[in-house]
Amino acid sequence: MSQSKLLFTFAAIILCAAFLYGQEAKKHAFIGAESCGMCHKSEKQGKQLDIWKGSAHAKAYEALTTEKADAIAKEKGLKTPAAKSPECLKCHTSGHDADAALIGKKFKVEDGVQCETCHGAGEDYKSMKIMKDKAEAMKNGLIVHEEKEKFCTSCHNSESPTFKEFNYDAQWAKIKHSIPAK
Ligand code: HEC
Ligand code: HEC
Ligand code: HEC
Ligand code: HEC
Repeated sequence: MSQSKLLFTFAAIILCAAFLYGQEAKKHAFIGAESCGMCHKSEKQGKQLDIWKGSAHAKAYEALTTEKADAIAKEKGLKTPAAKSPECLKCHTSGHDADAALIGKKFKVEDGVQCETCHGAGEDYKSMKIMKDKAEAMKNGLIVHEEKEKFCTSCHNSESPTFKEFNYDAQWAKIKHSIPAK
């Protein structure tokens, strides 16, 4: 191949990669658990808001604000308190590293592991029209997990400084928040 042809091929590959990356990384804005809860709190819907509020996930940020957490961070050689360390925040909350433009008024990092940590940032799928159409919602950022256990163990694993074990069935039973059968 001539040098210019090679160069052209190379540039084309880079452009394609950049395009695909852009598609992949379409960023949606966070709206906050209370905003999801507007529609996901009734008995008929399955009380997802209350179930989440009562779960350890809602307190996952708080768990980083204790002396115990700071001691763990220090032991790991971190120079910042746990609640300010990206190394800890990455499994204990969402949005801490997002552009300010992607953080809705009602969104709180302090809500810890929240609806949008698991289901994707909701600004673009939150409308009733889109939410009622699962395929459309997924196109607009909703994440539905087929392999639930694999998803859970993306955080519940030995990289967690306090990790002991993860028993999927028992742990899912503690946070299950299904829509009741009609
Ligand atoms: C305007 C009301 C509304 C808001 C706001 C809303 N939802 Fe929904 N959501 C719905 C409705 C309606 C359904 C469909 C329920 C059904 O199938 O019975 C749904 C379904 C879902 C499903 C199930 C998808 C499936 O079929 O597997 C998930 C997950 C979900 N919503 C998460 C969220 C999250 C997370 C937020 C906040 C970012 C949110 N919703 C905000 C109304 C809403
Ligand atoms: C890979 C994900 C992950 C990372 C990284 C992580 N955690 Fe956690 N953390 C978890 C999970 C999951 C739990 C709940 C059960 C467990 O320990 O596995 C948890 C629980 C905790 C608890 C509560 C334990 C208790 O019951 O008292 C504290 C405190 C904590 N983490 C501190 C930290 C600190 C400090 C850092 C940063 C140095 C950190 N975590 C980094 C996932 C993580
Ligand atoms: C720790 C992760 C996690 C959190 C936090 C979480 N969910 Fe889910 N949720 C799941 C998983 C996993 C499923 C089952 C598979 C799926 O639909 O993704 C699910 C299912 C659902 C469903 C569908 C239930 C059904 O019967 O089809 C709705 C609706 C839902 N979640 C809404 C919410 C709302 C609203 C919040 C916040 C108040 C929330 N979730 C918080 C992980 C989570
Ligand atoms: C984004 C990271 C993350 C994901 C994903 C995640 N968790 Fe957690 N989970 C945590 C953290 C952090 C804690 C500790 C919160 C605390 O102690 O305050 C925790 C605590 C828990 C607890 C309470 C402590 C315990 O071990 O009994 C249960 C139950 C739990 N998670 C179940 C699940 C299940 C089931 C899934 C998958 C559907 C899941 N989690 C996905 C981060 C995560």
